This record gives sequence, C-alpha cells and structure tokens, in this order.
Amino acid sequence: MTSFPSTTFLLLLVTFLNFLYILSAKNAPFSMSFPLTSTTLSHNSSSKALFLSSLIATSHQTTNAKAMPRVPSLNYKSTFKYSMALIITLPIGTPPQNQQMVLDTGSQLSWIQCHKKIPKVPPPTTSFDPSLSSSFSVLPCSHPLCKPRIPDFTLPTSCDQNRLCHYSYFYADGTLAEGNLVREKITFSRSQTTPPLILGCATESGDAEGILGMNLGRFSFASQAKVQKFSYCVPIRQGNHTVKPTGTFYLGQNPNSRTFRYVNLLTFLQSQRMPNLDPLAYTIGMVGIKINGKKLNISERVFRPNAGGSGQTIVDSGTEYTFLVEEAYNKVREEIIKLAGRKLKKGYIYGDALDMCFDSQYRMEIERLIGDMTLQFENGVEILINKERMLDEVEGGIHCVGIGRSETLGIASNIIGNFHQQNLWVEFDLRNRRVGFGKGECSTQV
Ligand SMILES: *[C@@H]1O[C@H](CO)[C@@H](O)[C@H](O)[C@H]1NC(C)=O
Ligand SMILES: *[C@@H]1O[C@H](CO)[C@@H](O)[C@H](O)[C@H]1NC(C)=O
Ligand SMILES: *[C@@H]1O[C@H](CO)[C@@H](O)[C@H](O)[C@H]1NC(C)=O
Repeated sequence: MTSFPSTTFLLLLVTFLNFLYILSAKNAPFSMSFPLTSTTLSHNSSSKALFLSSLIATSHQTTNAKAMPRVPSLNYKSTFKYSMALIITLPIGTPPQNQQMVLDTGSQLSWIQCHKKIPKVPPPTTSFDPSLSSSFSVLPCSHPLCKPRIPDFTLPTSCDQNRLCHYSYFYADGTLAEGNLVREKITFSRSQTTPPLILGCATESGDAEGILGMNLGRFSFASQAKVQKFSYCVPIRQGNHTVKPTGTFYLGQNPNSRTFRYVNLLTFLQSQRMPNLDPLAYTIGMVGIKINGKKLNISERVFRPNAGGSGQTIVDSGTEYTFLVEEAYNKVREEIIKLAGRKLKKGYIYGDALDMCFDSQYRMEIERLIGDMTLQFENGVEILINKERMLDEVEGGIHCVGIGRSETLGIASNIIGNFHQQNLWVEFDLRNRRVGFGKGECSTQV
C-alpha cells in the first residue's frame, strides 16, 4: 500500500479547489441572469400593486405630512404603474418556491403573495406558502421597522394579537389588503443564498404577482441583498400579442456592459430633501429631447428638481409610459402636432393621460411623420426611441404616443417608463452610483 497516489490526488484537489475559489472570488464577479417578460396585469391586480408600492408615500402624507415634510409625493393616481409590468421569477424560501415578481426600480419594499395552499379554496397557484419553507420567519412587533417614524420608511402597521407586525388597508372599492412583514431568503442555488430579507407577505389579496422593490432605500431588495449592480433588457412588445418575447434580468455583472454608456446618479443630501422629491429614486440628469432630429427648445432646468423638489427625472421600470412635467410636455406636444396634427384624434384622451392619439389606420403614416425621438442626458448619453416605438395601441383601433403629462396624474417628476426602455440595456450600478444604457436585442437574449 502506498500513500503516494492519494497525496498527489490531494495536492491536485487542493490546487483545483484553490483555482475554483480564485475564479469565483476574484476573476469572475457575481453574475446571475433571469428571463424577463412584460405582461399586462389585470386592472384589479395593478391597482393593488399600485397601492403597495405607493404605501410609503401615501401613508406619510395622510398621517403625518407636517412631521415628515420630506416624504416623496409620488402618489400615482393612474393605473400606468404596473399596467405593463416587467416580470421575473425568483426562487424564494427553503426549498425554493418560484415566485413571479414585478420588477420595480421605483419602490422600496418587496412583497410576495402568501397563501396556504389549501385545496378547498384554490389560491393563485403561483402564491407562496410560508408553511413549506424552513427559512421563513415573521417580524416581531419589537422590530424597529414596525414602529412608526423610521426616517425613510413608514407603513400603516400595527401589532396584531400574536405580537406580529401587521398591515391592513382598505381599497377605495372596499376590498381589504393585509399581511405581515416577514423575513425570507432568496435561494438561487445550494451555494448561493441571500441572508433573510425583510419582505411584505400579502395574505389577503387575489393577486398572483409580488413586487421586487429595487430603489435606493435601505430596505429595497438591492440594498438588503447587497447587490452591487443589476440590469435588464425589456423585450419588444409585439402588436399581435400571440408571442410573448423574453428579455433578460441580471443580478451582478452583465457580460454586455462594455458597450454601456453611463450617466451619474444625482444624489440628494438629507438636508436637501424637499416635499416633491423622491430621494430614493434613480434620478439622472436629462438635458434635452430631440424629435425627428430637431432639438426642442426646453430648458434643462425643467428636468431637474426645483426648490420644492419637483422636476427630477427618474428611470422607473414599474411605470409603463413616459411622463413629462408641463413645460417639457407642452414642447413635445407642440412639435408632434406640428408634424402630425392633421390626423390627431381630437378630444380623445386615454386613461386621463395620453392625449396624442390617432386612428390605427394612419399608424405607419404617423410614424413616418413624427420620426425618431431621442432622450438626451448628461455626459452625451442618449436613448434613441425608434419611430416604430413611438405609438402604442391603447385600445382596438387607436394608437397613442406613449408620453403623458405628469401633472394630470398628480406626479411632480419626469418619469422614463418601461415603454421607452424596450430593446435597451439599462444597468443600475449602485457601487459607482450611475445608470448605464446600451443597445440591446432583448427579445433574442434567452
Ligand atoms: C375585480 O374587481 C371588481 C370590482 O372591484 C370585482 O367585481 C371583480 O370580481 C374583481 N376581479 C378579480 C379577478 O378579482
Ligand atoms: C405575431 O408576430 C410575430 C412576430 O412579429 C410573428 O412571427 C407572428 O407570425 C405573428 N402572428 C400572427 C398571428 O400574426
Ligand atoms: C425658447 O423658449 C423660450 C421660453 O420658452 C423663449 O423665450 C425663446 O424665445 C425660445 N427660443 C427659440 C429659439 O424659440
């Protein structure tokens, strides 16, 4: 019997393991990709998601607006938040249960739909059953998050009879949404698991999708999971709805990032915070808009927060269309009317917001007349919107330009919605506090 071969083997094994360690820890930064689809949520579903996302803002405003003057007033009144949602599926719990989540760079807390999978009342089959997960735990009332007046976070929470942190809310239509704040892990693989993250667990709601809150707040998924960067490519929306193209979502390094051009995030100090500003949103410096090659006469000032915080320009994956403040919107509308006004569907407004609409038979002609649009940012970075992506079919026979007036929705910001992020890589580089854009062919990535 000789020990020589096994020593050699051990040595080789150590060398190999060392190599693996170096590969994963040094040379290959964390990178994980997921399929991304865009889906129209049902109206009920989207209105509930709407509430959950704006919970923080509205609860502040109604309960202690004076005490908390710097809370954002992004109280979207419309269903354009989540009406066309970007959906990814994440493995949550131990063992993992796949959960569909709306990817939302505009909100903080993540939510999953929690239901016991009781056979007699079939819940949405995609919901999460806490009793099947060994890593699930509830947040006790003593947790700081359950106390009101946490600086950047307040939910209408209460202590339930089990001393658990509970929230409940009645919608305008009288239906009830409620649940608990909980902790749960995301289990990507046996070796890659997040620590337990604080999530909302919606127990009383008919919706199927959860929300993945990805803003700059400390309780967002990105912050809690210490994600250094993430990116996505929104698939092209097909007019005929028969095929569902799939894009890509990356956590960590994106192999395409060498082609990205970056704009720094505008950051806001605690002392600078203003009533209409959302300091946790991804705010970038927009400098102008070009339509059909012509730079519109819009002052850069309207794309920046003013003294009251109105006018910041944010990149939001959770809002469908793009919304511009009055001064910018008027210039865009003026130009589009100049180019294609003869065919405008007069008096027609879609969803209280889109008022540049046309009968569908003119679609091609309108696209040709309006041409491409370019959104311009600091550092020479541009988003080109092809003329084929200027109009959206909002109902049978009617196409509208996918841009609305922020004020009509009660929004004080400029918002770049996911309609204008199609076939585009958008990277949120948290470590370097910047947003990158790159040309993508998203629908063929997976
Ligand atoms: C949607 O809401 C309406 C009224 O609010 C209700 O009648 C309907 O049953 C709901 N649909 C679903 C699928 O929950
Ligand atoms: C729908 O669009 C896709 C992609 O453009 C195309 O391949 C498919 O044939 C279309 N289906 C119908 C029924 O028009
Ligand atoms: C640009 O707009 C401003 C105010 O909106 C106006 O005073 C100025 O004359 C305009 N410039 C041109 C070249 O139209």
